[in-house]
Amino acid sequence: EKGGYDHFMLKEIYEQPNAISDTYRGRIRVAEGIIKMAGIDDNLAKLLNAKRIIVIACGTSWHAGLVAEYIFEELVRIPVEVEYASEFRYRNPVIHQDDVVIAISQSGETADTMAAIKLAKERGAFVFGVCNVVGSSISRETHAGAYTHAGPEIGVASTKAFTTQITVLSLIALKLAERKGTISNSDFHYYLQELERIPEKVKDALESNDHIKLIADTYKNARNFLYLGRGYNFPVALEGALKLKEISYIHAEGYPAAEMKHGPIALIDEQMPVVVIATKKGHYEKVVSNIQEIKSRKGKIIGIVTEGDETVKRLADHVIEIPETIEFLTPLLTTIPLQLLSYHIAVMLGKNVDQPRNLAKSVTVE
Ligand code: F6R
Repeated sequence: EKGGYDHFMLKEIYEQPNAISDTYRGRIRVAEGIIKMAGIDDNLAKLLNAKRIIVIACGTSWHAGLVAEYIFEELVRIPVEVEYASEFRYRNPVIHQDDVVIAISQSGETADTMAAIKLAKERGAFVFGVCNVVGSSISRETHAGAYTHAGPEIGVASTKAFTTQITVLSLIALKLAERKGTISNSDFHYYLQELERIPEKVKDALESNDHIKLIADTYKNARNFLYLGRGYNFPVALEGALKLKEISYIHAEGYPAAEMKHGPIALIDEQMPVVVIATKKGHYEKVVSNIQEIKSRKGKIIGIVTEGDETVKRLADHVIEIPETIEFLTPLLTTIPLQLLSYHIAVMLGKNVDQPRNLAKSVTVE
């Protein structure tokens, strides 16, 4: 059942190349430049006329929503707000008829997300669901939706659900951007081609597994970790920290790299491993100067870098390479080493990776 892997989590990490292609297969025709998604096509006017998009979700799905915020605002030029479902539902939110709510949930059963959807519907918003589990409560409660097609996710720590959520949300953004004319035709074609190359590049990223294991062994006894990223990779930093916390029980925090100087820099000393996402596209020079700040305080730097990187390699204690892609798709690659790092640390510490203490796969309590 675990397909030869020691844990479901590892199996699911390795399933990502296929899960991502399953998510876009049948929906894109790259040569013709076509994206077909029934839930989008049937509600196109509503989506194109949205004055605002509100994303509601919890946990890892909320992180996918944050990535989507950056993607939608860049490509479609619609303002996006990303809300924790539990906060949204309890604060009398301002919702207009021309707001589109996107609810993201792997299980489709999360109680807070469900309640937030009901509230948004009562107030007249159009609610679009992005779920993995077919026929789940949330997929039935929403007006329309798109499934992620990741296949069953058994490990409590969400992995392939996250990358396939980003894949679906990228498809939606690309479709709307093309229709709205907010990206050029040639960019649209180019982005689709790049999306189709992602599964191969995820495979490449998975090749670093042995190297990541050595890094995990070096830092497995650390009490704290910091994860830093900017732009599209800021939510990936949050997700990397969440993965480590939930399965290894090591305290970890994700931060936008530039916020470090406003507080967390005080934590940095020779005991502190700092995972920095420093890919070539995406404020590279700025991240390099953040790395210098960490180094001068003797923090241990684990850089996630683009293949062939020289600068970060010279500064960091360790680097993990990922292939190059266009900026908005980098989260699909930068996430992979962070998943593997937390997995190996948890295994080395003897933790129950697939069933971490205190956690349930679907959170049906409020
Ligand atoms: C993290 C994790 C949780 C879920 C959260 C939302 O690895 O699994 O944070 O992401 O409980 O669950 P769904 O997406 O099912 O609504």
